[in-house]
Amino acid sequence: MAIKLVTTATELRAESARLLTEKQGSSQGLVPTMGALHEGHAQLARTAVENNDVVVATIFVNPLQFGEAADLDRYPRTLDADLALLEAEGVDLVFAPSVEEVYPGGEPMVRVTAGPLANKWEGASRPGHFDGALTVVAKLLHYGFPGVGLPGVGLPGVAPAAYRAYFGQKDAQQLTLVKRMVADLNFPVEIVAVPIVRSAEGLALSSRNRFLSDDEREAALVLSRALKLIEGRANAHEPLDLESARAMVESQPLVQLDYFDVVDTRTLEPLAENCRDTPFRGEGLALIAAKVGPVRLIDNVPLSS
Ligand code: PAF
Repeated sequence: MAIKLVTTATELRAESARLLTEKQGSSQGLVPTMGALHEGHAQLARTAVENNDVVVATIFVNPLQFGEAADLDRYPRTLDADLALLEAEGVDLVFAPSVEEVYPGGEPMVRVTAGPLANKWEGASRPGHFDGALTVVAKLLHYGFPGVGLPGVGLPGVAPAAYRAYFGQKDAQQLTLVKRMVADLNFPVEIVAVPIVRSAEGLALSSRNRFLSDDEREAALVLSRALKLIEGRANAHEPLDLESARAMVESQPLVQLDYFDVVDTRTLEPLAENCRDTPFRGEGLALIAAKVGPVRLIDNVPLSS
């Protein structure tokens, strides 16, 4: 069956209810994206399709989470290629609304506040970014609730279905905040984290990689190499010695390191004690962000030892 594209919330609700009824489905997966899809998104879609009867992907470049208008304008729009990728993965329905559909009264007066977790790491250099991202994620999760036909809520003849939403581990801070929002505000949805997809050389896939020159792409590999080094030390129960790993990144002339740290997976607070001289034990997340040429890249690796 060909993938179906809808652009309004009303069509989305009707179509998702129709699909659930037609397939006698008992689960619906939601894959929120901003388009410019790559193999990392394909992996999100694939995982959702494997585990749900009906899968909806959303494509919406959310103005609320961009600091500068220029970044928003530069964000790649590749709808036809995105639809082809999602169709190939077996996604049933794509919701690609306009800005007016999502924010009919202009910028919303009431927003989700991401709280103190949003002030560090990515949030430190992108003020307001996570408030904007969580606000739209809250809206997308509401749009995608299976079998809901507002304002009467449940649609007649559509049984309640399990509801899961899929987010990439690459945006680790976003993932942590989405999980917190869903727990703190009682959203009836299961958040599923999908591991990072990398190029054969190790570069974490990102819609921004297309802006790297060949030399910058080669230089960017130092990020995943440094993370691998830390992962290897954690696995070997050695001190992580972040300083030497940071020096390795800083020695690459095309790379301007922003942060490289090991943090608690739930609080995102640095695990300083565990990193310098004593052998690493326990769980953590190594986070890195750097500018490579004009492009800001992030990457991370979970540590367990
Ligand atoms: O990760 C993204 O692509 C975006 O931040 C998201 C979750 C789709 C919200 O706009």
